[in-house]
Amino acid sequence: NVPLVVEIGSGLGEAMAHRAAEVPEHDFLAVEVYTPGLADLLMKSAANGSQNVRAVQANAPEVLDHFLEPASVDEMWVFFPDPWHKKKHHKRRLVSAHFVDQVASVIKPGGTWRLATDWQEYAIQMRQVIEADGRFENLNPGPLATDSAPDQGWAPRWEGRTLTSFERKAREAGRIPRDLTYRRRTD
Ligand SMILES: C[S@@+](CC[C@H](N)C(=O)[O-])C[C@H]1O[C@@H](n2cnc3c(N)ncnc32)[C@H](O)[C@@H]1O
Repeated sequence: NVPLVVEIGSGLGEAMAHRAAEVPEHDFLAVEVYTPGLADLLMKSAANGSQNVRAVQANAPEVLDHFLEPASVDEMWVFFPDPWHKKKHHKRRLVSAHFVDQVASVIKPGGTWRLATDWQEYAIQMRQVIEADGRFENLNPGPLATDSAPDQGWAPRWEGRTLTSFERKAREAGRIPRDLTYRRRTD
C-alpha cells in the first residue's frame, strides 16, 4: 500500500503540488471547499507531471466522518487554517476537540500530524486541544511560556512545506509561524 498524505484546507495547493512532485511514490489528497484553489492545485500538479494528486471538494469534518477509512492516513496536514481571530468567532476554528477526535480516527497509529499557524493564540489552542486528547505525542515536547521561560514545544519549520504566498505575507506582517508535529500513539 502506498502512503497517503491528506491536507485539510489546501488553499491554492502550493504545499501539496510541491511535495507531491518531490515524493511521487506517495498518494496525496487535498480537502478544500474553495473551487479556484482546487483548480490551481490540479493545474500545478498537471504542469509538474504528477500522477499522485487527488482532490475532494467538501467540508473537511464531513470528509473525516464519511469519506476516509479509519486508520487510513499516514500523514495529515493542517497548514494555516483560518484563524477566526475575534473571540466571538473562535468556535468556528477548525482545530477543536471534535476535530482532533476525527483526526485520531482516520490517521494510522504511528502516523504523523503536521500543523502550522501564524496566529500564536491559535497555536496555543491547537496544543491544548491536541494534547488534551491523549492519542497524540508532541514530537518536540516542552512547556508553553511562563514568566521565567520562553515558549517551548514547537517543531522546527518543516522543510517539506514550501513557502506559500499566505505564509510569506504573514512573515512580512511580522507574525511568526508556529509548526507543530504530532505522532498518533499506537496504544
Ligand atoms: C487561510 S487558508 C490557508 C491555505 C493553505 N493551507 C496555505 O497555507 O496557503 C485556509 C483554507 O482552508 C479552507 N477551509 C476552511 N474551512 C474549511 C473546511 N471546513 N473544509 C475544507 N476547507 C476549508 C479555506 O477555503 C482556505 O482555502
